[in-house]
Amino acid sequence: MPTVYVAMSADLLHPGHMNILKSARELGDVTVGLLTDEAIASYKRLPFLSYDQRKAVVADIRGVQRVIPQTTLDYVANLRELRPDFVVHGDDWREGVQSEVRMRVIETLREWGGQLVEPEYTQGISSTQLNTQLKEIGTTPEVRLKRLRRLLGAKPLVRALEAHNGLTGLIVENTRVPKDGVPQEFDAIWLSSLTDSSAKGRPDTELVDLTSRTTTIQEILEVTTKPLIFDGDTGGITEHFCFMVKTLERLGVSAVIIEDKIGPKRNSLFGTEVVQTQDDKQHFAEKIRAGRAARVTEDFMVMARIESLILKQGVYDALSRAETYLEAGADGIMIHCKDHDPLELLEFARQYEAFETNVPLVVVPTAFNQIMEDALIDAGVNVVIYANHLLRAAYPAMVQTAETILRNGRALEADDLCMPIKEVLNLIPAG
Ligand code: SPV
Ligand code: MG
Repeated sequence: MPTVYVAMSADLLHPGHMNILKSARELGDVTVGLLTDEAIASYKRLPFLSYDQRKAVVADIRGVQRVIPQTTLDYVANLRELRPDFVVHGDDWREGVQSEVRMRVIETLREWGGQLVEPEYTQGISSTQLNTQLKEIGTTPEVRLKRLRRLLGAKPLVRALEAHNGLTGLIVENTRVPKDGVPQEFDAIWLSSLTDSSAKGRPDTELVDLTSRTTTIQEILEVTTKPLIFDGDTGGITEHFCFMVKTLERLGVSAVIIEDKIGPKRNSLFGTEVVQTQDDKQHFAEKIRAGRAARVTEDFMVMARIESLILKQGVYDALSRAETYLEAGADGIMIHCKDHDPLELLEFARQYEAFETNVPLVVVPTAFNQIMEDALIDAGVNVVIYANHLLRAAYPAMVQTAETILRNGRALEADDLCMPIKEVLNLIPAG
């Protein structure tokens, strides 16, 4: 019996997949190379279903003899191992992201005289189309909450962008640009205390209370499906922090990050220009421990943010705090830094990577914005947060518009600074 290899994600199964599998089983014994979450996330979004869920479905399809993982978009490793007589794939991959993968399949099959069979692509239905429809249906708190951990498991770097209301939430949700043929988008939403407070005309001093901040969260959750990371400031007193954890978890927020400061909180980017006090590390570790104990599920993440570099306490202090917070169970460590040249941060990351157990490392490159994401990956960083950019982009544009109206005594000149009214009307569809 000839052998046949079919690689697929099998996330949103549709008749197109069934056509491929039908063609495959007519040729021989079918092995499905099921793309792992990591392989899929390398060229498109994270799948809805986990690998095990997708495997359970595919394994039961008629004609599928076995299912094995394909850990990269590239087929070559699996093909060399199996040396199948045929590979089957829809003819839609002749162009676009997968065309190179296709060429490598053809070349590899040539090594033993295997053949690529490309049934005509099934028109009218596609996973991308189904994904758009699913996004319109929305998500549930539980699915959203778990998504951050899944992303961390599947992507070398999880990318978050700040949102402070529904509209900016939509921008984080929907912005997509192609880069080298691969669509790029943000993975998660950062609910910054700085921009949430600023958008309400308030200082970033924990003055905006949890009730108000929950209103912002709700606005964003209402119109998005991506996971949300909440900037919990200092978390307040331990007893209050436990309530914060419960509230966030119930809403479907994936993680809270709290910083090891006490007393009147000032924004970290002031550095030592203002009085800021770092918490005693054991006291802060207790807060982390209590917050984790307050969770209902293990999925919600309580992350510890270290302010030692901000407060000029040095890398050693930061590392020793990281150790203590990890012992307390922190689900992530954010190392903050406001130096243009993040030498200390990179040194921290280097030594952190050598820890026996470590959890995702988070950074906020506001001051060292020249650093490339690839360099962060090389340094062992797992989450990058672009913490304030949408608010900072909007504010000068709004001030300029206000000034232009005043200067001219009419609004005509401001029109060039504004989006056309028709576009605003259609920005948020009514149904
Ligand atoms: C925020 O975005 O509110 C933060 C990050 O906490 S920073 O402003 O850099 O302190
Ligand atoms: Mg903050």
